[in-house]
Amino acid sequence: MSSHSYGLAGVMGWPVAHSRSPKLHNYWLEKYGLPGAYVQLAVAPETLGVAIAGLAALGFRGCNITIPHKVDAMAFVDDIDANAKRVGAINTIVVQPDDSLKGFNHDGFGYIQSLLDAQPDWRADTGPITVLGAGGAARAVVLSLADRGAKEIRLLNRTPEKAQALASEFGAPVKAVAWADRHAALSDIALLVNTTSQGMHGTPALDLDLTALPQRALVSDAIYVPLETPLLQAARLRGNATVNGLGMLLNQARPAFQAWFGVMPEITPELRRAIEATLQS
Ligand code: ATR
Repeated sequence: MSSHSYGLAGVMGWPVAHSRSPKLHNYWLEKYGLPGAYVQLAVAPETLGVAIAGLAALGFRGCNITIPHKVDAMAFVDDIDANAKRVGAINTIVVQPDDSLKGFNHDGFGYIQSLLDAQPDWRADTGPITVLGAGGAARAVVLSLADRGAKEIRLLNRTPEKAQALASEFGAPVKAVAWADRHAALSDIALLVNTTSQGMHGTPALDLDLTALPQRALVSDAIYVPLETPLLQAARLRGNATVNGLGMLLNQARPAFQAWFGVMPEITPELRRAIEATLQS
């Protein structure tokens, strides 16, 4: 365990300059009066191992792991918690009391909490769920929905083999559906989730016709740049409730901050506004 009272943490990525995590964690450090800092750690893939191995010696309590390191970083920690193992990726490392390193993945927790922040009575078992995408974000989201009792998860991906592989790995309630059938896959659903990159700043909007989507369905997007993707805008204009990706980012950070600094931090309207102010494009 680091004997330093000054708490250090950071985010390892490549590139990492776009990350909002420093703003978020430094806001909390200041708010809770904790001496410390959360810094950007620009680490190239070829030095990931030595960078992670140096965390304890440098006095870090741990770090977040972001693109493109979430899968590769697993090879450089001593232990991985059960949920992160199932997801197949880590987004957080916590330096343990004996200086060993343990990996966690809080993305699914963050996603579920973002839905609950928007709709406190939200439940996973009120109707079918359609998830678009089968990458790392989809793995965390699908597992967390299944763990919350989802009865049917329709998984669609441009490259069908990835959706099929994920469906056979996770088993019921996940079913792979052909990408060409995505418009019809919205019928009768209670929740739609976009985990593809389509709609992110600089990419085209998702090619999705919302006609079959029930108006009571909740529509969520893992993207937070822009805060309102074309998908969320189209859903809002036809009367659907929407949840953007910022809540997932804010909520996944809470258990990491607690593990490093000993306080479970709160997401206040003021914090949300401070982060949103950095996202106006
Ligand atoms: P993340 O970790 O954020 O999930 P990722 O693993 O790179 O990132 O996954 C990106 C997702 O966006 C994938 O599901 C990808 O589909 P493919 O598996 O077919 O690549 C999806 N995606 C990217 N570009 C897309 C496009 N033009 N149309 C549809 N889906 C797309």
